[in-house]
Amino acid sequence: MNEIMRVIKSRRSTRSFSDEQIKREELDIILEAGMYAPSGAGKQARHFTVVQNQPILDAISVEAKKIYRSMDNEFLRNLGSNEQFHTFFHAPTVIIISGELNSITPDSDCAVAAQNILLAAESLQIGSCWISAVAVLTRTEESIKIIKNLGLPEAYAPFNSVALGYKKAESPNAPPRRAGLVNYIR
Ligand SMILES: Cc1cc2nc3c(=O)[nH]c(=O)nc-3n(C[C@H](O)[C@H](O)[C@H](O)COP(=O)(O)O)c2cc1C
Repeated sequence: MNEIMRVIKSRRSTRSFSDEQIKREELDIILEAGMYAPSGAGKQARHFTVVQNQPILDAISVEAKKIYRSMDNEFLRNLGSNEQFHTFFHAPTVIIISGELNSITPDSDCAVAAQNILLAAESLQIGSCWISAVAVLTRTEESIKIIKNLGLPEAYAPFNSVALGYKKAESPNAPPRRAGLVNYIR
């Protein structure tokens, strides 16, 4: 199997991280992978905020959970009420990916950057998990304050984030893919 396919197939979401911080050289490679993702019209209108400050990540988790508790979605309401749940699973590094609100495809631009980050992390045997919680951080005054303190470029907002850290345990194999996912028109 070629290396890219090996990495794609072995990547799983990691939700239990060692406290040890990832190395700066590893972080730089992971960020570079994010920056080399495609973007709508090639505008590169997304921004990466590396957060390695636990009190700030805790504050984001607390606020996102508060917002989850007020949402219609029952799954998110339950997560918001779960005292054990931390949106970033106490990962030592989180990259928040923000998109320019007026660009043509900010959601997709941030999504493909996140996927590149997940794969680059796996290629370095670093655990990763896509975390959506940051996307709700525009819904309360407190969350808007938190975003302001992240120093994003003007008119950018967070769309997603990736938690990163060394894995506490090996990831299990990915489950088999569903049948019938492809049809061909020839
Ligand atoms: C758009 C998107 C949003 C996600 N948001 C979260 C999240 O907020 N928290 C979380 O723990 N996992 C999140 N995940 C990870 C998925 O739960 C995970 O990818 C899925 O269960 C498949 O497992 P795998 O990544 O191990 O293959 C998200 C994944 C995607 C693609």
